[in-house]
Amino acid sequence: MNQRNNHRLVLFPLPFQGHINPMLQLGQILHARGFSITILHTNFNAPDPSSHPHFVFRSIVSDLDRSEVPISDIPGLISLLNTRCASPFEEHLREMMLLPGGDAVPITCVISDSLFSFTCGVAERLKVRALTLRTGGATSLHVYTILPVLKEKGYFSIDVLSGSRSEEAVKEFPPLLVRDIPGFDLQKPEMTLQLFDNMVKVIKSSPGVIFNTFEELEHPALTSVREVLPVPDFVIGPFPKCCVTSSSSSLLAEDRSCISWLDKQPLKSVIYVSFGSVAVVSEAEILEIALGLADSEQPFLWVVRPRSVRDPEWLQKSPSHFLEALERRGKMVKWAPQMEVLAHPAVGAFWTHNGWNSTLESISEGVPMLCMPCFADQGVNARYVSDVWRVGLHLNGGLERENIARAIKRLLVEREGEEIRERALVLKEKANASVRLGGSSYQALDALISHILSFE
Ligand code: UDX
Repeated sequence: MNQRNNHRLVLFPLPFQGHINPMLQLGQILHARGFSITILHTNFNAPDPSSHPHFVFRSIVSDLDRSEVPISDIPGLISLLNTRCASPFEEHLREMMLLPGGDAVPITCVISDSLFSFTCGVAERLKVRALTLRTGGATSLHVYTILPVLKEKGYFSIDVLSGSRSEEAVKEFPPLLVRDIPGFDLQKPEMTLQLFDNMVKVIKSSPGVIFNTFEELEHPALTSVREVLPVPDFVIGPFPKCCVTSSSSSLLAEDRSCISWLDKQPLKSVIYVSFGSVAVVSEAEILEIALGLADSEQPFLWVVRPRSVRDPEWLQKSPSHFLEALERRGKMVKWAPQMEVLAHPAVGAFWTHNGWNSTLESISEGVPMLCMPCFADQGVNARYVSDVWRVGLHLNGGLERENIARAIKRLLVEREGEEIRERALVLKEKANASVRLGGSSYQALDALISHILSFE
């Protein structure tokens, strides 16, 4: 380890699982390169310090009451966090700079989530530099930069938002379809567009942006982003591949019994099903998912988060056809050690909502995807998985048991699935090469460290 632990980095994650994971992974990467790491976090969705004994954790009171905004209203929560966290963030940073206390190493720089719009301003006032972390992909960021143009062209007009044109091509951004546009799917497109616009401005005015992706995956998008956001960028992912240790940052307890269950399944036979940390499904949808899994005749490992199904009694009400399949060749958990699951030789495909972390973790392990995007960047990620990188299939034709069973068989049993797996393995190797000595992400990490040290 290089001796840089007289340099402290203050990392400030947005308090959602899909943002906490990459920020804490970044902390591990930079800690392994010798930096002291302080995680400044909100008391809302606070990470567990015991999983990261090498970091200092400091909590700020975000004054956010869970009853104020529904947990599924992510744009509403992010807006509220931006309002509520600005003052406590400034107070804590000021305090840390004046009274270093237990974590007494001077602050070299702050790294905050690019969905926090106030951190760069605060840092500027306190005369400390603040880099920004883009936790999602470069392609979706590129789409965010052109959302004002798409809005001007009428893509957010009532008739388009009503869904009647959702299958039309977006000619300004092939191969996207209208339904893939971030913000198109939400009830509050205006608020969502504002958040994305703020993010683009934050990145543009920052002294540098860090990406959790790799050059070989998103080179065209990175090239376009560099033109519109000309700030130093550091493309150092996939983060999980760069971490020396694999400490979990899960907000829910991981059920490890699924690993011993996977150990008993045939090679590449299991469909792993998880829709991330936010998506919620209706009673009708969960029934179709359950019956589709039963009809697929493949072993399945299914993550059903607490409160992710509108009807808490759904399992008791499930048809015996599904319950028998669950008993014979299924496993259901509330939360899985996902990266370990994806790396397991029994897993043959991942049915995912295409949150960026899940997408990148699947690519990193060469696992073909069945794509079912829900909101935000997920439509863009899914379109690139199926149409550009060609390492997955879209669940076209609706969330219906026949479609589901058919798509799972295409991926796990048929020749088409084998071809997708071959491409996924090529992409996995590119991800591995990028983080190896001399690879693109390895070099970018060296550049990031020099950049941070230049702030002294
Ligand atoms: C949210 C947004 O929905 C998404 O669009 C954006 O890209 C990131 O934030 P989220 O639902 O949290 O996404 O999904 P994702 O980005 O895939 O992150 C989920 C994380 O939780 C992954 O790192 C995954 O490994 C982890 N996870 C998920 C588990 O560890 N266990 C599980 O059972 C499920």
